[in-house]
Amino acid sequence: MNKDHTANPDRRRRHLVVGLCALGTGLGVAKYLAGRPQVPAGHPTPVDFADLPPGKLRTVDWNGRPVWILRRTAEEVAALAERESELIDPDSTHSLQPAGCRNRHRSFRPDVFVAIGLCTHQGCTPQLREGSGAQGVFLCPCHTSRFDLAGRVVRGGPAPANLLIPEYRLEGDGRVLIGEA
Ligand code: FES
Repeated sequence: MNKDHTANPDRRRRHLVVGLCALGTGLGVAKYLAGRPQVPAGHPTPVDFADLPPGKLRTVDWNGRPVWILRRTAEEVAALAERESELIDPDSTHSLQPAGCRNRHRSFRPDVFVAIGLCTHQGCTPQLREGSGAQGVFLCPCHTSRFDLAGRVVRGGPAPANLLIPEYRLEGDGRVLIGEA
């Protein structure tokens, strides 16, 4: 009997689906990522953020898409570990980000978060909810999906996946080049 599940395409697909459901992500994640297999890249755009205070968000245009640069405080970084049971994909297993950003804070530097500010449901722009402190969230006004300060989607809304993170690299202490690894 063949016990190699990877040798049988039907069985392999079944196991993939079961695995996704077990993680609570459902088929929505797989469907969402099926059309977006690549980490977004290109159109290198330098942005200075040295003057951005901790806790503040800057939005820049990157080839027609809003890209966020959030300076997270130490408290906000620490809080990312506190409510992971509420997240669909806390380890960003089914999310798109540069390889070096597949970590709890989804960034190269814990205090600097870069992401495309478009909801993974239908592409609205979520808003940083003011006054929520270290437990801050990005709230999508369209159908109330929520994302933590690492862009990880919270259960209960229609968005199926974490926010996309484009290729980028940090240059020095206060500058990011969006679009290039
Ligand atoms: S577009 Fe964000 S919840 Fe629908």
